[in-house]
Amino acid sequence: MKFLLLLSVAFLAFVHAKEMGTRTYKGYQVFTVKVTNPAQFEVVKSLYDSDEYDFWTTPRKLGATDIMAAPEQIKQLGKIFAENGMQFVVKVKDVGNLILEEQASNKRSSDGRISWTAYPSFAEIRDWLTSIDSPIAEVSTIGYTHENRPIFVVKFSTGGAPKKSILIDANIHAREWIAGATATWIINELVTNPDPYADILAQVDIYIIPMVNADGFEWSRARDRMWRKTRSIRSGSSCIGCDPNRNFAFMFGGEGTSPDPCSNTYTGAGPFSEPETAAIRDFVVARESEGVKFYAYMTFHSYSQLWLLPWGYTQGVYPPDYAEQLSLGQASIAALEAVHGTAYQTGQGADILYGVGGASDDWAKDHGIKYTATIEMRDTEEGYGFILPADQIIPNAEGMAS
Ligand code: ARG
Ligand code: ZN
Repeated sequence: MKFLLLLSVAFLAFVHAKEMGTRTYKGYQVFTVKVTNPAQFEVVKSLYDSDEYDFWTTPRKLGATDIMAAPEQIKQLGKIFAENGMQFVVKVKDVGNLILEEQASNKRSSDGRISWTAYPSFAEIRDWLTSIDSPIAEVSTIGYTHENRPIFVVKFSTGGAPKKSILIDANIHAREWIAGATATWIINELVTNPDPYADILAQVDIYIIPMVNADGFEWSRARDRMWRKTRSIRSGSSCIGCDPNRNFAFMFGGEGTSPDPCSNTYTGAGPFSEPETAAIRDFVVARESEGVKFYAYMTFHSYSQLWLLPWGYTQGVYPPDYAEQLSLGQASIAALEAVHGTAYQTGQGADILYGVGGASDDWAKDHGIKYTATIEMRDTEEGYGFILPADQIIPNAEGMAS
């Protein structure tokens, strides 16, 4: 009896440690594998569908896909590559070390205020956003996350009747820190240095939702740097969260999605089951009922330096206005490249990567917003992926603001 009691205490301590600890990713590696033919793509796709590996990038039909392997998976993955004649390089030699380097690269300002020389925490973002005092910016809340964090939107308008409106969201995926840091930098830029943007703001209103998935983001800061999903709880599964970019109502459950709550691409129980995605939908619908006309929707992600156009749910299907989408995409990446020479690619999302159902961009396009894009920011082959040093926040954001 005593023995059983001791055993159960030990077991509880173990469970506790697993849930309470911080994942170090010591010895984890990331491989960039090159696909050069359809048979090799099938291999990558089956690895993706097996959910045994954390894919840092969505599989790419032709070109490079980044796959993380735990120490005990490294040999097996290398064997699969070799058997299928697939060339690969090690992108990250030790994810754990990279995480430590990233922490060291965070240079917080000494007065404790938000700065973009470090990745701002949710608390820093909240305190700063709620103190913004600007004649052109209005901060409000569009809803609350599962753990009750406010989801903020900042509206930039020089006043008068509603102009054509642009909507930007960021950090819907928790680990894509550069996305939220870029969105907050752009907000700060418009507030503190509005003059260069006067011409733009004379023509459009801009709405920015800088931190959609605050729960996941905080989890990725404190416990698990590679966390992607939301933090919602479901009965019947010990796995937490769903992929919010599989949770929108358009092509829900389609390609590149999983019905398994433990998957990193889990759709969630149903369309808009997550408060974070429902908040975006409700916000769009509510503003439209007040006369706002959204004509562009951009969703900030990382990484791969891609400007992905509709449709994204399957390859080879294009909206009737695709030529216009493409010329805007090309103009956008040219402007971006002119700032710091960062090269992007643009094209139909699923042609470049692989089909993804239930994503926000396609939902927005189907909803009637003309120009939509998923923007995958830095880097590509520099060896950082999600764990981009903080000194790249500002140059990345300067490119995006162009
Ligand atoms: N990496 C993004 C994801 O997995 C790509 C989504 C692009 N959108 C699309 N509809 N394909 O969520
Ligand atoms: Zn993403």
